[in-house]
Amino acid sequence: MKVLFISPEVSPFARTGGLGEVVGSLPLALQKMGLDIRILCPLHKCCKSLPIKILKRSVSLVSDSDRISSRIGVLEDESFAVPVYFLKNELLFNRDGIYADEKGNFKDNALRSFVLSNAATQIEKVVNWKPDILHSHDWMAASTSAYLNAKQEKKGKPKTQGSLLTIHNLEHQGVFPFSDFKKSGLPQKYWGINGFEHYGNLNLLKGGIQHADKISTVSPNYAKEIRTPLHGQNLDKSLQFRGADLIGILNGINENEWNPSMDPSVPHPIDPNSPCEGKQKCKNAIVKEFGLASSKEPIFGVVSRLYHQKGLDLLISILPTLVKNYRASFVILGSGSREQEEGFQKLADSFPEKVGVKIGFDESMARRIFAGSDFFVMPSRFEPCGLAQQYAMRYGSVPIARSTGGLSDTIIQRKKRSNKCNGYLFEEAEENDLLIAIKQALEDWKKKDTYRKIQKRAMLAPCSWEVAATKYAEVYSWILP
Ligand code: GLC
Repeated sequence: MKVLFISPEVSPFARTGGLGEVVGSLPLALQKMGLDIRILCPLHKCCKSLPIKILKRSVSLVSDSDRISSRIGVLEDESFAVPVYFLKNELLFNRDGIYADEKGNFKDNALRSFVLSNAATQIEKVVNWKPDILHSHDWMAASTSAYLNAKQEKKGKPKTQGSLLTIHNLEHQGVFPFSDFKKSGLPQKYWGINGFEHYGNLNLLKGGIQHADKISTVSPNYAKEIRTPLHGQNLDKSLQFRGADLIGILNGINENEWNPSMDPSVPHPIDPNSPCEGKQKCKNAIVKEFGLASSKEPIFGVVSRLYHQKGLDLLISILPTLVKNYRASFVILGSGSREQEEGFQKLADSFPEKVGVKIGFDESMARRIFAGSDFFVMPSRFEPCGLAQQYAMRYGSVPIARSTGGLSDTIIQRKKRSNKCNGYLFEEAEENDLLIAIKQALEDWKKKDTYRKIQKRAMLAPCSWEVAATKYAEVYSWILP
C-alpha cells in the first residue's frame, strides 16, 4: 500500500509543535510494517540548507486566471528513512515562518494551503509514484481530499485513490473570507454547507472534513469530545454528520528519541526498572540549574506553550498558596501569552528559592525538566492528545492533568483500591480542582512506596507508535478503493 502524508510540518526539518513531531515519527512506524510511505511538505526557508534535489517537471494550480507552478524536490539525506518531498515555490514558502512571522499570520495562507494540497494530487506526474491514500494533516493540508474528489469527478472513472484527514487540533481551522475560495480553483459547487462554507466564511478544515473518505483525530476520547458543542469549536455539526467515518487513534512517541536511559541531554541516565538513583541525580542538577533551595522536596515541572488551552493560568493563581504552605518547588519552561509569561516570571521573582522559570523553548532543557522533576503539571482545558505528558511519564515525572482528550486516554487516575494508577486527573478547569490533585500527589509523595509504584507504572506505560501504526494501516485498508 502506498501512502502520502501531506503536512506543513515534519520534524526534524520544520516544526512548531506536536503536529511536526507526529509527522516525523508515525511514518517510520508505518514503514516498518511494510507500507510504502512518503511525505510531502513545503520547502520552507528553514529547510533550504538540506540536501534536496529538485526534479524536472512541475505541478500547477489554476487559481483565478493565474497558473501557479511549483517544483518538487527530493530529500537526499539517508539518515531519514522515509522519502520526503519538498514543494518548492519561492514566492509562497520561502519565508521566515511556517504560518506566520513577527508581523502575524501570512495574508495568503489560504492560497499557500491550496498550492500544497493540490500538489499532493499531482505528485505522480513528477515522481513516478502514485499513492493509494492521501493522508493530510490539519487545516493547511485539509483541502487535499477536495482536490482529489475534483480530480476523480473530472475523470469520471471509478476512484483509484482515497483520502484520510487527521485533525491534530480542532482549534486551528484555517478561516478566510469567501474571496479566498475563488483562488482555490475548486469547483464552485464545493462552496456551501456541504463543503467549505462555514457561517459565510471559507473554512479549510471543514471543507476537508466534508470531503475526506475518513477522518481521524489523535485520541479516542478527543474523537468523542469534538462531536459535542463544548469541544466541537463550532464544527461539531459537521463532525456529527461525518461521525460514522470519524475515528480516534492515540498518538505514540518515538521511544528511541525519548529514552531516559540513553538521552545525552540529561545529566544522568534513568533506568525505568530502578529509577531512584538516576532521578535523584537529575533532580539535583535541575535544582542547581534553576537556583532552587532544596532537592529534598518534590519538584513539579511544566513544559508548555503558555496559552489559554493549556490552562496554566490556574497554576499561576494557586502557586503562592502552594509554595507558602507546602513543601513543593516548581520549574517552568514555556512561552506564549505575555500575561502568563509575566505571571510566572513574577512568581519566580517573589519565591526564587521555590519557583524557577525560563521563558522560551529549549528542547534539551525540556528533557532535563522531564528527568529532574517528580511530577508534571498539565491542566489543559482541552488536549487532542498531548505529547508532553507522555514524555514526562517515560522520564519518571508523574503527570497531574485535567481529564480531557488524550490526557484521559494516557493517564490512569488514582482510585481507591486500584493498583493501576499512573498519574492524577482532575475534572474541571478550576483552581480548586487542580489544587486538590496536587495536594493528593503531595500526600502520596510522602509515602515513598506509594509514589514509587505510581512512578514506575508511569515509566512503563505503553507508548510506542506500533499500536497506532497498526490502526492507521487498518483505516487505510477501509479507504482503499
Ligand atoms: C497538537 C495537539 C496535541 C497533539 C499534537 C500531535 O499539537 O494540540 O494535543 O498531541 O497536535 O497530534
